[in-house]
Amino acid sequence: MKIVKIIALVLLVALVGIQFVPTTRNQSNTVLETDFMLVNNVPETVQKKLEVSCYDCHSNNTQYPWYNKVQPIAWFLEDHIKEGKAELNFNEWDSLSNRRKKSKLRSIIKQIESGEMPLDSYTLIHKDAKFSKKEMNEIINFITILKDSL
Ligand code: HEC
Repeated sequence: MKIVKIIALVLLVALVGIQFVPTTRNQSNTVLETDFMLVNNVPETVQKKLEVSCYDCHSNNTQYPWYNKVQPIAWFLEDHIKEGKAELNFNEWDSLSNRRKKSKLRSIIKQIESGEMPLDSYTLIHKDAKFSKKEMNEIINFITILKDSL
């Protein structure tokens, strides 16, 4: 029994200890000139939905939930944001060449249609990030037109 208590104590100390390891926060107050919404004529409903469903991981601004103060959850979120931004950053959209934009738009359609994005671990908590059939059609239509115009 004693060994179990020691292990539990060590784990507890470790859990408390990692709370003090800082993480970088993905927050910026500047709106870049390259922002997707600035350079494209995006219908308001599409804009709102993309911001709610995608921007936490694919922009320079994350709306953090309270549990981001708790480790190791904060690391898990930080990792998603870093990886997500590396693939696609809506704020830096216009810095891509037309060819890359086209390929990203194709990829966005694929991700939304297949239901891979937004991530399940995200929609589990952010119910409003899920797409209704109507919202999905509206976004896919808009993205398709944009892609074909490039
Ligand atoms: C919780 C964070 C999160 C949210 C929310 C999210 N993504 Fe992602 N996204 C990621 C991560 C992490 C990756 C890279 C790893 C991967 O492909 O699974 C990624 C990758 C992508 C890619 C590149 C995929 C590829 O392989 O080419 C696209 C496109 C994309 N996301 C679009 C979207 C769109 C559109 C939304 C909103 C409808 C969205 N994502 C919402 C985290 C997120």
